[in-house]
Amino acid sequence: MKAFVTGGAGYIGSHTVVELLAAGHEVIVADNLSNSSEEAIRRVEKIAGKKIKFYKADVCDKAAVTKIFDENEIDFVVHFAGLKAVGESVQKPVMYYRNNIDCTLTLLEVMKEKGVKKFIFSSSATVYGDPASLPVTEDFPLSTTNPYGTTKLFIERILSDAAFADPEMSVVLLRYFNPIGAHESGLIGEDPKGIPNNLAPYIAKVAIGELPHINVFGTDYPTKDGTGVRDYIHVVDLAKGHVAAIPKLGEAGVHIYNLGTGNGYSVLEVIAAFEKACGHPLKKVMAPRRGGDIAACYASADKAKRELGWVANLTIDDMCKSLWRFRSKNPHGYEE
Ligand code: NAD
Ligand code: UFG
Repeated sequence: MKAFVTGGAGYIGSHTVVELLAAGHEVIVADNLSNSSEEAIRRVEKIAGKKIKFYKADVCDKAAVTKIFDENEIDFVVHFAGLKAVGESVQKPVMYYRNNIDCTLTLLEVMKEKGVKKFIFSSSATVYGDPASLPVTEDFPLSTTNPYGTTKLFIERILSDAAFADPEMSVVLLRYFNPIGAHESGLIGEDPKGIPNNLAPYIAKVAIGELPHINVFGTDYPTKDGTGVRDYIHVVDLAKGHVAAIPKLGEAGVHIYNLGTGNGYSVLEVIAAFEKACGHPLKKVMAPRRGGDIAACYASADKAKRELGWVANLTIDDMCKSLWRFRSKNPHGYEE
């Protein structure tokens, strides 16, 4: 089938394009490169040995999106395009609502005009807020703690309303836990602009010597070692989850899946795994809790296993090894 991938030059999008191509799909990518580089597209083509039709376009721009649909026979949309920095979303909420929601509304309008009815959306475990118990299942109550998370919740609602109004429409909402790691080739990986907010890319920059130490945010959580616990999932497993979800697009309605491993690792455990991968100790500084963080979050991924036949296979060591390979091969990311 022909997939239209928005945000396909980004971290998760680029890995998913590799898996879509490997599964025999044709891929068209649109990305405005606000948080990515066209180099990622060239590297995906190298890994896959196939060409990608790339549009440098803003997905909020209806004329640009209409042109893409006019020029291509699109079967389904995989929507990654969006802004994703939690802290920035608190500072610039309007920018987050405008970009993330506008992109989705534009896509839905153009899809309706062109008769395309299949949609896969990048949602997030952030829609569970601070879960009352663990592991988190898809029927948990939803709430958010920051504007970024609220855009995800609103978009889930908008897509569900659109699917309710059109009995032929099929929407898959994939709630990602904490994607880390990189493609085994070391060619593509996470390349955040500026100082990373997230733990894994931060550790990688410390390991390469670009940042002096890792701040461990909070050592007094009610967890195994006092530091925050998350469900880290290898980005390649996550990417394969999208391919596994495609058959669900044949069933009208809304289909919701957690994509996680079901295992929780603490900050200190992730640092230890990374030290093993890079072969040297990393300097840590114990710091106060980061505002808005929760103690622990991990998924029940049983529904995805049962209904999609998908499980995450790669380990925390695989995640750290692949991230280290990408960072050491590309110390300055894509901007060599
Ligand atoms: P990313 O920033 O690497 O990728 C997003 C891509 O979207 C970037 O390439 C960016 O340039 C592009 N983009 C942003 N706004 C656009 C617009 N208006 N028009 C066209 N392109 C636009 O982020 P990622 O980590 O790959 O995340 C992909 C999606 O998954 C996002 O929607 C994100 O919210 C969601 N998600 C990410 C995580 C995570 O921890 N990385 C967790 C849960 C959900
Ligand atoms: N942490 C540190 N030091 C750092 C960065 C993070 O100790 O420099 C800790 C955090 O306190 C937390 C854990 O590492 O305990 C993970 O933090 P991340 O920032 O990597 O990830 P979060 O779980 O906070 O959030 C991420 C994404 C969200 C997404 C959520 C669930 O940033 O967008 O996962 O998918 F919603």
